[in-house]
Amino acid sequence: MTERKKLVAGNWKMNGLRADGLALAGELGRRMGSADASDKPRCAMLVCPPATLLASVAAMLAGSGIALGGQDCHPAPKGAFTGDLSAEMLADAGCSHVILGHSERRHGHGESDALVREKVAAARRAGLVPVVCVGETLEQRQAGAAWATVDAQLAASLPERAAEAGELIVAYEPVWAIGSGLAASLEDIAEMHAALRARLGAAVRILYGGSVNPGNAAAILALADVDGALVGGASLDAQAFWSIARSCP
Ligand code: PGA
Repeated sequence: MTERKKLVAGNWKMNGLRADGLALAGELGRRMGSADASDKPRCAMLVCPPATLLASVAAMLAGSGIALGGQDCHPAPKGAFTGDLSAEMLADAGCSHVILGHSERRHGHGESDALVREKVAAARRAGLVPVVCVGETLEQRQAGAAWATVDAQLAASLPERAAEAGELIVAYEPVWAIGSGLAASLEDIAEMHAALRARLGAAVRILYGGSVNPGNAAAILALADVDGALVGGASLDAQAFWSIARSCP
C-alpha cells in the first residue's frame, strides 16, 4: 500500500445513551448520504461507540461508508470472562476495527503491553483491523524519554512482523494530551510520527490522538506522517467530528 488514505476515527468512550448515540450516528450517516462529492470528507471515517450501541449504530450506518469499531476486546474468542467482549463478538456486531491499548485501558485497568499484544492477535483472528494506541506520560516526556517509551510499547504490544501480517493502525496519543484540551505541538507530533514511520514502515497508518478539535485538525492532518486522527471528546458532536474529517487534505 503506497497511498494511505487518511482516517478520522471517533472514540466515544463511555458516552452515549441510546438517544444521544443514535442521534449522533444518524446525523453522521445523513451527512454522508446527502453531501455531494465536494462536501464529503476526503478521508475514511470510523466511529467506536460503547458496546451497548454497536449493533444499532451498525444498522444505522450500513451503506454509509462510515466504519464501526469496538473500544477494546478480550484475547479469547469466548468463555467464562464476565463483562468482557471477544473480537469475534465485535465482528459479529458489525465492527471492522477495534481500538486496543488505549491509555485509559493501560492506566485505568492496568493493561500491560503483553496483554495488548494478545488482543492484537485476537483482533486479527476475528478479521478486525487493530488500532493500537501508544503514548508517553508527561513525566516521561519531561525526562526526555518520549520516544524510548513509545518504542518500547510498540516492541512489546505488537506481534512479530505485525505490519506485514495484515492491515495495522497505530495511534500516537500522548497521555497528557488526551482530554486535556492541550494537543501536542506540531513539532512534537511531526518528530514522533517521523520516528514511528521509520519504525513501522510505509504500509501502517499512523494516527495522532489527543485533544484534536475543529480548530487544530487541519494543521495536524497536514503533517507528512500523520495519516489521520483518533478523536475523543470532539467526536461526540456531529458537527465538530464532521468538520475535523473535512479538514483532511
Ligand atoms: P480526546 O481523546 O480527543 O478527548 O483528547 C482522544 C482519545 O482518547 O482517543
